[in-house]
Amino acid sequence: MTTDFARTRAAFDLPAGMIYLDGNSLGPLPRAAADHVAQAIRAEWGQMLITGWNRAGWMDLPARLGDRIGRLIGAAPGTVVLGDTLSIKVYQALASALELNPGRKVILSDTGNFPSDLYMADGLVRTLGTGYALRTVAPEAVADAIGPDLAVLMITEVDYRTGRRHDMARLIAKAHAAGALVVWDLAHSAGAVPVDLAGTDADFAVGCTYKYLNSGPGGPAFIYVAPRLADRVRPALSGWLGHEAPFAFDPDYRPGRGIERMRVGTPPILQLRALEASMDIWDQVEMADVRARSIELTEAFIKGVEAACPALTLATPRDPAMRGSQVSFRHPEGYAIMQALIARGVIGDFRAPDILRFGFTPLYLRFADLWDAVEHLRAVLERGEWREARFQHRAAVT
Ligand SMILES: Cc1ncc(COP(=O)(O)O)c(C=O)c1O
Repeated sequence: MTTDFARTRAAFDLPAGMIYLDGNSLGPLPRAAADHVAQAIRAEWGQMLITGWNRAGWMDLPARLGDRIGRLIGAAPGTVVLGDTLSIKVYQALASALELNPGRKVILSDTGNFPSDLYMADGLVRTLGTGYALRTVAPEAVADAIGPDLAVLMITEVDYRTGRRHDMARLIAKAHAAGALVVWDLAHSAGAVPVDLAGTDADFAVGCTYKYLNSGPGGPAFIYVAPRLADRVRPALSGWLGHEAPFAFDPDYRPGRGIERMRVGTPPILQLRALEASMDIWDQVEMADVRARSIELTEAFIKGVEAACPALTLATPRDPAMRGSQVSFRHPEGYAIMQALIARGVIGDFRAPDILRFGFTPLYLRFADLWDAVEHLRAVLERGEWREARFQHRAAVT
């Protein structure tokens, strides 16, 4: 193992006394992020003003950071770019994939996919009109549902609720053999499990940076297009920064070179500077080490919780190869139990209808943290703390 996890942990600003098991939803603050952002505000925005776009390299930032994320997901330099939110990137990738497969009109996804992906596909289908359809099947049934009418398979690799992980290589091979393209949502994969986009011959992939990649709330998404497709893709969201020459202010759209055409509008520089601080940490990390440690952590947590909390039912696959870097348990009172646990300083989250979700992030999580978390969970259940009225009220974000 070459990654020094004590060093990576020291690079994060973790609140004292808190055990953070929600880095799969919002990653914590890298210690250097505040300085990066302050520098961008004071020295760049403050002193350079508009000249910062050239002098501070703001315009290239989405591509430079895209290359650094690319190393974690098996994407060659020049194939990943940042911008917008993940929902927007899902739409972009899906629209382009559909257009590359004329004559076919079916999108296939699974019922475990994140709702926004399904909503975006539904909106696109309505815009395209006649004949287009979104089909969903159970996650286990995806491979068998790939047929000769399929245009695009749209899958989130790791299920946001259960943590179940699809077999990317197998689904890509099967979809390609059937003449379909594949769009992967890597929201719960990037920085969580090793991904090999080039090696698996993936077509499109998208993901967010505010979870395992720690860019902070509202950090931009990324998009990957295989080099063999990138110059053929016609962006549906044809914004000016995806134009071949944005500052020619040409009234006609001409797509930019390769992945650059998937840019839409002005990039969020302050958020990208925060991501830069996180990527300085990630540059020192090997995904194989993250995966090995993640499996040890999730195995230990499952074992600990099953021994201490018999009222909880495991919702995540038992086989580590079949899961991402999260563990979920079911309980009908899952929401109140999670609130009681949070009150004890152990932060996980809840996903309707009954899922208690815990993310495992080796960059800053230690074994001692997870044993403590198990003891707190045991206490919440054994003492019935979750029954208190204050834990019953549902906040807007769960
Ligand atoms: C799998 C998945 N896809 C899409 C999204 C939507 O991302 P955004 O809010 O950045 O558009 C999320 C958000 O958590 C997600 O988990």
